[in-house]
Amino acid sequence: MLNSARIISVNTAPPYNVYVGSGLLSGVGSRLAQMLTCRHAAVITDSNVAPLYLGKVVDGLKDAGFAVSSHIFPAGEANKNFETLSGILEFLAQQHLTRSDCIIALGGGVVGDMAGFAAGCYQRGVRCIQIPTTLLSAVDSSVGGKTAINLKAGKNLAGVFLQPTAVFCDTDCLQTLDAATFADGAAEAIKTGILCDEGLFSLFERGDLTGRISEIIARCVAYKAGVVERDEKEMGERKLLNLGHTVGHAIEACSSYTIPHGHAVAAGLAIVARSAETLGWTAEPIAGRIADCLAQNALPVTTDFSAQALAAAAAGDKKRSGSEITIAVPRKIGACELKKIPVSDILPFIQAGLEV
Ligand code: GLY
Repeated sequence: MLNSARIISVNTAPPYNVYVGSGLLSGVGSRLAQMLTCRHAAVITDSNVAPLYLGKVVDGLKDAGFAVSSHIFPAGEANKNFETLSGILEFLAQQHLTRSDCIIALGGGVVGDMAGFAAGCYQRGVRCIQIPTTLLSAVDSSVGGKTAINLKAGKNLAGVFLQPTAVFCDTDCLQTLDAATFADGAAEAIKTGILCDEGLFSLFERGDLTGRISEIIARCVAYKAGVVERDEKEMGERKLLNLGHTVGHAIEACSSYTIPHGHAVAAGLAIVARSAETLGWTAEPIAGRIADCLAQNALPVTTDFSAQALAAAAAGDKKRSGSEITIAVPRKIGACELKKIPVSDILPFIQAGLEV
């Protein structure tokens, strides 16, 4: 099935491919056997994904000659923490995984972050292969090498950059997603549309998704690949990918991570669009169109948390640098820019966006 997959190359050093298509899971083992000399793979997954896909991936790896160990941790953003990381690292050590072996992240964004971070620090770095099983991880988090855990002080505050060795996105996995989890990924894809691709945004506006999921994932990944190639460590342009995330991360933190990432980002996108429009930073009225598109895709367009609570949480965001914070703002659908604002202006900025 890999022969019929769409392939997007990410030209980092070293480069890697993202494979997108139907029926890929069972072929991952044989493809990895061609790519790698290692013969021990540790599959990291969570309690939601394991019953669905772990057997298929493990069987494929074993058939291709790999010795396979697997570790399952409890699903959920609230488990993206030191305790889970420590459990994974101890597991890898117990299994005698060596630096020449590989880790496979099988799951959504939390699994990708946890397994990726463990791969980045276990024995100072082993290869990590990402197998995203949610739309959110397919369109965004499995590509680009960001890995992290949450700290008490905020979201994703400890982590490493580790580009994956390969990404296998089997679109069949998306068929088992519930509507809310699918909507989570739609939020990140709509974000990509606002950033660079009005046509992609319009697909979500029209609800024209049937038969287009591979194409949508490929469009999002191709855009992200270009950004990551130009700015792997987020010194500049990559900050654009955080559109909606400063407020979104604040919403997640204020909710003690009970509001899912994509839903929080959706509210963040709507809020930042209203703020930008109110401040005269947009080239044309766009906030209404963005909110309508998000709502059409069963996503929230505001939050009940106060501007004060959100501003306090956002002030601890890692997009802050000294007394300033860099925020991605939309100019129109398909074009965004970065604005540096003083930390003291976060409160009025968010307030402007909460006033619907
Ligand atoms: N999710 C944003 C990034 O990877 O930079």
